[in-house]
Amino acid sequence: MARIPQDFIDQLLERTDIVALVDARVPLKKTGREYAACCPFHDEKSPSFTVSPSKQFYHCFGCGAHGTAISFLMEYDRLEFRDAVEVLAHAAGLDIPQDAQSSASAGPPRDPLFEALRIADRLYRAELRRNPGVIEYLKDRGVTGEMAREYGLGYAPDGWNTLTERLRDRGAAETAGLLIARDSGGHFDRFRNRLMFPIRDSRGRTIAFGGRTLGDDKAKYLNSPETPLFHKSDHMYGLFEARQALRDLPRLIVVEGYMDVIALAQHGFPNAVATLGTATTASHLTTLFRHTQEVVFCFDGDAAGVRAADKALAQSLPVMRGARRVRFLFLPEGEDPDTLVRGPDGPARFARAIDAAQPASRVLIEGLTRDADLASPDGRAALIENAREPINALPPEAFRSELIGELAELARLPADDLRQMYSAAHSKAPRAADKKLGDHDIRVTPVSRALSLLLSDTGLAARVKDLDALRDSRTKGTEILTQAIEFFSNNPTIPVSRWLERYREHRFFDRLQQIAGTTPPGNDEQRAQAFDEAIERLSADTGSRSSMRQRYDALLARLDAGPLDAEAAHELEHLRRALQRK
Ligand code: UTP
Ligand code: MN
Repeated sequence: MARIPQDFIDQLLERTDIVALVDARVPLKKTGREYAACCPFHDEKSPSFTVSPSKQFYHCFGCGAHGTAISFLMEYDRLEFRDAVEVLAHAAGLDIPQDAQSSASAGPPRDPLFEALRIADRLYRAELRRNPGVIEYLKDRGVTGEMAREYGLGYAPDGWNTLTERLRDRGAAETAGLLIARDSGGHFDRFRNRLMFPIRDSRGRTIAFGGRTLGDDKAKYLNSPETPLFHKSDHMYGLFEARQALRDLPRLIVVEGYMDVIALAQHGFPNAVATLGTATTASHLTTLFRHTQEVVFCFDGDAAGVRAADKALAQSLPVMRGARRVRFLFLPEGEDPDTLVRGPDGPARFARAIDAAQPASRVLIEGLTRDADLASPDGRAALIENAREPINALPPEAFRSELIGELAELARLPADDLRQMYSAAHSKAPRAADKKLGDHDIRVTPVSRALSLLLSDTGLAARVKDLDALRDSRTKGTEILTQAIEFFSNNPTIPVSRWLERYREHRFFDRLQQIAGTTPPGNDEQRAQAFDEAIERLSADTGSRSSMRQRYDALLARLDAGPLDAEAAHELEHLRRALQRK
């Protein structure tokens, strides 16, 4: 799909006031130059959530949540980027430019696809009402009419053309996965004689279907193919319905089948979703944790189930931050959630099973020790080695620490020694060292320092006289800093959010948002000085002897005037040694 052009995002943010946007959802109180409220993203009694009208940015000191107006809608209303933009555009009276809806390289326009899916949805539901045999099938499986309505179940009749004949824009319907083109020209219905499950997006629009055969087709389930609207590795069945049923989702249960989701909803568990015939992906996890703090995966207890759980676990580790929890429920062989919850005393048994689901740490340790001989030193060394990768995938928070504690016991080592072994290796790996350290501590580098100063007062950009020197700097990250300085010296009054939105696709986007949320200490003058200092230091880093010499002399001169702070002293020492070597 075509990218939404940056000037449109700009225009949109120009017409959007984040204070009004947030205030409509979370009533704000004015406090000095900012607005405050109790944070909608974590539990708290006193307000640490602030919205800055000048930056057009929100930030919570409690949980670290932060972002622009678009980010706020994505998080609070739980929308995809594009949908958030649509909502804001609608409110601002703007239309998303045509070329972002359609362009040759980026696929067809979306609206005709939605339209075709809507027509199919209507047809399938009407057909279900007209086919007593299908209603009978649902009754036999214990599905009530109410559930069938809530989940929009339908029936695709057993003909080649039923839907085809209804659709005028068959090209769009083909792209939406509903029709298949014939070699001889023309189209035919993809779904025939199947019970139809609409798959909906976060706004409740049907984007795809799953169809269960009611005949003897080889494939029990046929799903829509990948389309511009539907990616099976991103979407989950039942998420929209779960959110409709419950405003807050303290827990989401992930099962395998469409029928499992519906059976669970019908028996008191409206918070179940299903992956769509694929293994759990990182994208699934990201989506799940946008809606809940706890994910419980349900798998078969057989070998395939254990393998699937290992995969889900591996995807979970990198996102295990804060209060997030992942647990695993292994079902008795031959049972799935559908049969279990419908069985005698089903809902109570299922609730107990959920309560007893194993924490991720247990599953991880079990996986690591499955073939390990912990009685021998070699076996214990192997355990430590094998745990390195999963441990280092974890953000350095409580969960990581707990796990290391458990591993230490098994390995018969002091936990602190083990912690050190892992963190030593951790900081050697350059990629891992780049990772941010949880939401609260920002690794302070000269670049992030300069950026946070600049973003807290964009007028500072005017102080940089020699942008080229900065451009030549060898320090990593100066490129973004240079771009920011350029941007703000041309647009001194534009809110920070508009600059930030240019980096949404950038791998450091979250880091940049984090930096934008901090306000460096000191008064205006101290901050200006710190900014000059950081720029000077970065500009000096060209690697040439003369630039190092210059910087060295500057630091010596400062030392003459009084003691240096720890960072400057460290730099001086570093330069001294480097100059000696050259
Ligand atoms: P199951 O075979 O467990 O199906 O596949 P089920 O949901 O229990 O179906 P019923 O109870 O027999 O009606 C689990 C999921 O795997 C995907 C579907 O998403 C299904 O819900 N699947 C399965 C397919 O995509 N294609 C298939 O042929 C089978
Ligand atoms: Mn089943």
